[in-house]
Amino acid sequence: MSGDLQDVQFFVMTPGDYEDTETLLNNHFFRRNPLSVAAKQLSVESFSPQLVVDIKKCLASGVSIGARANGAKTLAGVFLNSSLSVDEISTKYTVNLDTSCIVYRVLEMLSTGEQVFNDMKVQRVLDLFTLCVHEDFERRGLARTLLEKSLLLAKEQGHQAACVQTTNSITEKICVPLGFHTVKSLDLTTVSDDLGIDLSLLGGTRLVKAMIKLL
Ligand SMILES: CC(C)(COP(=O)(O)OP(=O)(O)OC[C@H]1O[C@@H](n2cnc3c(N)ncnc32)[C@H](O)[C@@H]1OP(=O)(O)O)[C@@H](O)C(=O)NCCC(=O)NCCS
Repeated sequence: MSGDLQDVQFFVMTPGDYEDTETLLNNHFFRRNPLSVAAKQLSVESFSPQLVVDIKKCLASGVSIGARANGAKTLAGVFLNSSLSVDEISTKYTVNLDTSCIVYRVLEMLSTGEQVFNDMKVQRVLDLFTLCVHEDFERRGLARTLLEKSLLLAKEQGHQAACVQTTNSITEKICVPLGFHTVKSLDLTTVSDDLGIDLSLLGGTRLVKAMIKLL
């Protein structure tokens, strides 16, 4: 349910927000995200070094939105995004793929080729990379608002489509009413043995999806 968000301020993130972002993810992302839990990757350090590179790229992109609690330094939530050409979208997870990182391997399996964007005559895409809301601010519509603001900003900057890979069914619940549709899905039960995903820790999110929306 959407709630009162007057105690937070939204802003476009910059590279100076890296430390706060890492703290938020370490405290509020990994142990609540079903895939990270099932892959036993519970901190930025336990991920691929590529994650730090990707977070920094998002912060430098000018299309990542943060929310800070009024009067405090604490980040209440982030949507870390980057701006990609269609060529970059199709190679994002094949170039520099860290095969020891289970989550990145799943994202690589879910990545969409450029054809789907070429068919829609799209050239610049908002890549919605990491969504996280601090537990003290959850279930007040903050994630939905971060997504809406990301889409608005990206459209203003000339992006023609947005894409997201949902590793938590809550994200799908937020994206569908905003017009996202599924272009690819992966049943994690079919790759769990191969990748080392502990299905008993996965919770309800067995189907991960690549979703897109025209802006
Ligand atoms: C997923 C996450 C970002 C949601 O943030 P949030 O600010 O609490 O979400 P919102 O308040 O905008 O809720 C959006 C919808 O999801 C539902 N929802 C949120 N948390 C939920 C939960 N734990 N269980 C079930 N539904 C939930 C809300 O009820 C709302 O639906 P409604 O409007 O029909 O009631 C947050 O739980 C989180 O950071 N999780 C860990 C990291 C993660 O998995 N990120 C997503 C990766 S794809």
